[in-house]
Amino acid sequence: MSSYLCVELMGFSEFFELDRVAVDAALDKFLPAAGTLPVSIHEAMRYSVFAGGKRLRPALCLEAARLFADPPVAAMAAACAIEFIHTYSLIHDDLPALDNDDLRRGKPTCHKQFGEANAILAGDGLLTLAFETLAQAPIEASRCVRLISEVSRAAGTVRGMVGGQVADLEAEKTRADLATLEYIHQSKTAALIRAACVAGAICGGAADADVERLRNFGENIGWAFQVVDDILDVEESSAALGKTAGKDQAQQKATYPALLGLTQSREVASELAAKAISELEPFGARGRNLRELAEFLVERRS
Ligand code: FPP
Ligand code: MG
Repeated sequence: MSSYLCVELMGFSEFFELDRVAVDAALDKFLPAAGTLPVSIHEAMRYSVFAGGKRLRPALCLEAARLFADPPVAAMAAACAIEFIHTYSLIHDDLPALDNDDLRRGKPTCHKQFGEANAILAGDGLLTLAFETLAQAPIEASRCVRLISEVSRAAGTVRGMVGGQVADLEAEKTRADLATLEYIHQSKTAALIRAACVAGAICGGAADADVERLRNFGENIGWAFQVVDDILDVEESSAALGKTAGKDQAQQKATYPALLGLTQSREVASELAAKAISELEPFGARGRNLRELAEFLVERRS
């Protein structure tokens, strides 16, 4: 029996760890082997995928699926595809033309390790691999098309991750208002986290009304996640975060702490998490893992 089947009697950290181990094994399987030609790009892709991410999006995807199908094996391809997209976004975000950072997940960023051209191409490779991986989801064809559509929209330019990144860059040094900030956070970060939850529900075979509940859950928790990310950038050290702390202020980014201060930003994050958790009520005890994940996302220190 697979190690991630028996979650009912486990505490949060145990199921989170089991999901992480299962996800790492699946990521390894979906990635081209290390020696595959051209070796340089596969080395760079693998370096960033296995640099020590928390695997939050895959965990959300698997736990969303687990509400409807336990074990959530059908969701593993989607969980990995979303982690590939997330990793590509970090590689590109760190490039000199964007946030220009030397440190990520406590290690040199991809372009510092492999050069800028290889980092651009490793990001491109991961984004492309994500869609090849999604197409392998072992679900009915019509659900697979829906899955691909949800994930591609979330990663794209219209209220998706790329659009949010553009708005984030354009908002630097402008003292953006709350509406602009909400747009940036919902697009840049919440869209992919929401897609992880929706993807899990689709792969688990959820009815449409339940897919929408998971969409609302993911939207709110994803938004809270970026508010917390902004707070940690102010409160924590580079060593704790594994990336350069204090950069938002240095780059005059549009953030919640800059606009509302730390106390009010914490309140916003807690309210969003509570709103997310309320979407899980109809699932009763089955929603426990997702509820605990939501609590972890706002309480995390890195
Ligand atoms: C940290 O996630 C990541 C974010 C808070 C999202 C920020 C958004 C971007 C970098 C979008 C960039 C978009 C483009 C197109 C370049 P995490 O704490 O889960 O990271 P981990 O996987 O290292 O744990
Ligand atoms: Mg950025």
